[in-house]
Amino acid sequence: MTAELRALAARNTVTVPMIGLGYSGTVTPPVIRRNVLENPAWYTAYTPYQPEISQGRLEALLTFQTMVADLTGLPVAGASLLDEATAAAEAMTLLRRAGRSRSARFVVDADTLPRTVEVLATRAAPLGIELVVADLSAGLPEGELFGLLLSYPGASGAVADPRGLVEEAHARGGLVAVAADLLALTLLTPPGELGADAAVGTTQRFGVPLGFGGPHAAYLSVREQHARQLPGRLVGLSRDADGNPALRLALQTREQHIRREKATSNICTAQVLLAVVAACYAVHHGPDGLRRIAQRAHRMAAVLAAGLRAGGVDVVHAEFFDTVQARVPGRAGAVVDAAHAAGIALRLVDADTVGVACSEVTTVAHVEAVWTAFGVGADTAALDAGTADALPAALARTSDYLTHPVFHEHRSETSLMRWLRRLADADLALDRTMIPLGSCTMKLNAAVEMEPITWPELADLHPFAPAADAAGTLAMITDLERWLAELTGYAAVSLQPNAGSQGEFAGLLAIAAYHRSRGEGHRDVCLIPASAHGTNAASA
Ligand SMILES: Cc1ncc(COP(=O)(O)O)c(C=O)c1O
Repeated sequence: MTAELRALAARNTVTVPMIGLGYSGTVTPPVIRRNVLENPAWYTAYTPYQPEISQGRLEALLTFQTMVADLTGLPVAGASLLDEATAAAEAMTLLRRAGRSRSARFVVDADTLPRTVEVLATRAAPLGIELVVADLSAGLPEGELFGLLLSYPGASGAVADPRGLVEEAHARGGLVAVAADLLALTLLTPPGELGADAAVGTTQRFGVPLGFGGPHAAYLSVREQHARQLPGRLVGLSRDADGNPALRLALQTREQHIRREKATSNICTAQVLLAVVAACYAVHHGPDGLRRIAQRAHRMAAVLAAGLRAGGVDVVHAEFFDTVQARVPGRAGAVVDAAHAAGIALRLVDADTVGVACSEVTTVAHVEAVWTAFGVGADTAALDAGTADALPAALARTSDYLTHPVFHEHRSETSLMRWLRRLADADLALDRTMIPLGSCTMKLNAAVEMEPITWPELADLHPFAPAADAAGTLAMITDLERWLAELTGYAAVSLQPNAGSQGEFAGLLAIAAYHRSRGEGHRDVCLIPASAHGTNAASA
C-alpha cells in the first residue's frame, strides 16, 4: 500500500506556491506536525461533545477561538468551520437570520475569491437569496440589501478601506461580513474595529499544509449579539460538579440532533484537528512571531512590486498586503510558464495579468526568479532599502492581540510539547479506548492513510497548481470516485463535500435539480427517518 502511494505521490510536481487565491505557503513547525498532526492522541479524538473526556481539545479549541476573536476584533468566535467558501455562505445566512432587513439581496464585493462566489451562488438559490456581485470601488449598488460581504485584502491582493461601505450598508439596514486574511490582521486594523458585524476566512496559512486544497479550518467570528446564531460548535467556560472551572461546548451543542430542521446550520463535524494545528501555530510563534512573518511576507511583495515597476511593468494596485497583480499585455501566459519552468507557480488572472502571492515560505531567490520570468532584473537589497511599505497607513493596526498568557508561555519546543501532552492526557480518544457517542458514527483513519498527508509531494501542492503538477493526487481522486461508485452501485461520485452533512446537502441539491429538469420543481417535501442523524434534517 505505502509503495503504491509513494509511486502516485511521486507523479506530482511540487512548485513554490505563489498563486494565492486564499491558499498560502506556510511552514508546519515540526513540533506541531509530530505532536499533533501525526499523533493518534490528537487525530483519533472526536468532536468534543462529552466535556468529561475532552478537556484537552476543548482548551485547544478555546485557544483557537481566542486567536480568531483577537485577530478579527470581534468578541465571539466559533471552534472552526469546514472551509472559507462554505463559511462565507454560513455568514450570509447568519446575517439574514440576525438582521432586521426583509430584503432578499446579498451584495458581494467583486474582488472576492472566485470559489467563495460560486459556493454563495449554490447556497443562495434554494434559499431565495438574490446574490449581487459588484465592483464596489465606487460604492454600493442602488437598492436595499440584508447583507454585504467584503474582502480584506481582496482576491486581487488590493487592500481597500472598508469603512465607507460598512457605513453605507448599515445605513440601509444591512449587516456586514468581512472575509479577512488572519495573518494580514496582525498588521491591519481588524474588521471588528471597522464596524463589521462578522468576519470569516481560513486559518490554512497558520501552519496547515496546503494539501491540494484541504482540509483546513475556517473561522467565523461575530458581535456578541449574534452569538446564538453561530453555526458549528462553540467552546465556553463553565464549572464542573465540584465547582471547578471546566470547559464544555456551549449554546448550539448537538444542535442538529436537538433542533433538527430548525438548526442554524447542518455542520456537525467541523475541522477540529486542523483548528488545533492553527491554534498551536499561534501559540508557537506568539503575537510578535506572527507579526514578523506577516511583515516579511509584505516586504517580499513590496520589493517584488518595486522591482517590477523599475523594470517598466505595470503593477495594478498601490496598496496590498502579500499579493500583487502585474499587467503584461498579451504575455501573461508566457510569464507564468517561464516561472513554472523555474519551479514557481504564479496565478494566470487573464491573458494580460499575472498574480504573485508572497508568504512565509517566500525567499529572495523566489522574488528574483519571478523578476526573471517577467524579464526584469533588480538589486534586491538596494530596492529593499529604498522601498516603503505598501499597506495603507490609515489602516495600520494599533490594538493588541494574542495577549493571553497561552500565546506567550510555550515559545520553547519543550514547553509547547509538554503543553500538548498535558492536553492530550486530559482526553480519551480512540488511541486509548472506544468512545461511546450515541449521535455520531465513530470513524478511525488507519495510520497507513494518515502517514501520506504530511509527505511534501502531497502536502505542499497548491489546489490551483496546473493539473499536470497534480497527476498523482488526481489519479488517487479518480480511483476513489470509481471505487466508491462501484461499491455503492451508483453511476458517479463527487468528492467535493467535505463532511457527511455536506454530502447530504449535495445529494439533496442534485435531487432538487433532477425534479426541476423534469418540470417538477414544485416538489419540496423531504421525508427523514426520525432515527436519522440530525444533520439530515438540517441539510434538508
Ligand atoms: C450516520 C451519520 N450521518 C451523518 C453524519 C454527519 O457527518 P459529518 O459530521 O461528517 O457532517 C454523521 C456524523 O457522524 C453520521 O454518523
